[in-house]
Amino acid sequence: MLDDFKKIGSEAAAALGEVKDAAALEEFRIKYLGRKGLVTGMLSQIGQLDKDDRRKGGQIANKTKKEVTAAFEELKAKLGTGAKEVKPLVDVTLPAVDVCSGKSHVISQTVSELLEIFGRMGFNIAYGPEVEDEWHNFIALNIPQEHPARDPVDNFYIDDTHLLRTQTSTIQIRVMENQKPPIRVIAPGRVYRPDTVDATHMFMFHQLEALVVDENITMVDLKTSVDQFIHAFFGPETKWRFRPSFFPFTEPSCEIDLLWIDKNGNEEWMEVGGCGMVDPNVFDAVGIDSEKYTGWAFGFGIERLAMRKYGITDIRLLFENDLRFLSQF
Ligand code: DAH
Repeated sequence: MLDDFKKIGSEAAAALGEVKDAAALEEFRIKYLGRKGLVTGMLSQIGQLDKDDRRKGGQIANKTKKEVTAAFEELKAKLGTGAKEVKPLVDVTLPAVDVCSGKSHVISQTVSELLEIFGRMGFNIAYGPEVEDEWHNFIALNIPQEHPARDPVDNFYIDDTHLLRTQTSTIQIRVMENQKPPIRVIAPGRVYRPDTVDATHMFMFHQLEALVVDENITMVDLKTSVDQFIHAFFGPETKWRFRPSFFPFTEPSCEIDLLWIDKNGNEEWMEVGGCGMVDPNVFDAVGIDSEKYTGWAFGFGIERLAMRKYGITDIRLLFENDLRFLSQF
């Protein structure tokens, strides 16, 4: 076996002499110096030698490995391993490629924040369908057939009795039909109205509805909850007010206005939602005892909340899907 060892050494030297290019050099490396190569193999065979030969065998194997490796490295440097001909896969001198990750729309972000705030205040989340029937959109909300609040030419009807919901107050009815008091829900969703589009109007927008029903609920609960919400969402310094109003499904009813400074530095009140104490007729429509229970409700325009919070002056920007605008949020 010692003779074999010596032969491998001279064979390797001869083979290296024949190597003319990078490909042949790689073949050589695999045959002799690779993991299963002949030179590497010698070292693992030492254990099989007779005891007397082991020392000698070890010396030859190590020497051969050292010499062949040195000669290989020398030739490799000379041939340059052909690396010069291979084009680099990546040009590290080019500017880096932008990492472009998506994110949710500013309205979706606002909805998440609103739900989180009311979640902390102990509200459950409710959803309802966007195609509604007259009962949920009007009748149960104390808006009978002849009521001016439901002029049919002013709404998107699907057929004679179904329409795209005009308000998320529909969800109040759906919740009260399925759940007995105490009730504390928050309900976000899209609503549709054939409004002429301008800086503050869209035919589709989002509302945030709230409903609380229990014994001894008063306007103080409503005012406290709105106050807590506005200060959590807009900051503790934000000024707001109740303004007397009318909605068929609340009595008394109020608008909620926020104070803001316009671009000329003047203070202005901006309406962001409606609210009030649930009208007993609404409780009667859903079979809740209006002698025993009282409740409050509100409906905010989510676009208005977002516009006020982020200083957006035109609602149309929210729906044009221009990434230069959207990526700012
Ligand atoms: N649904 C009303 C609208 O779309 C807003 C509203 C007013 C909702 C009073 C309420 C409320 O829950 O109590 O204009």
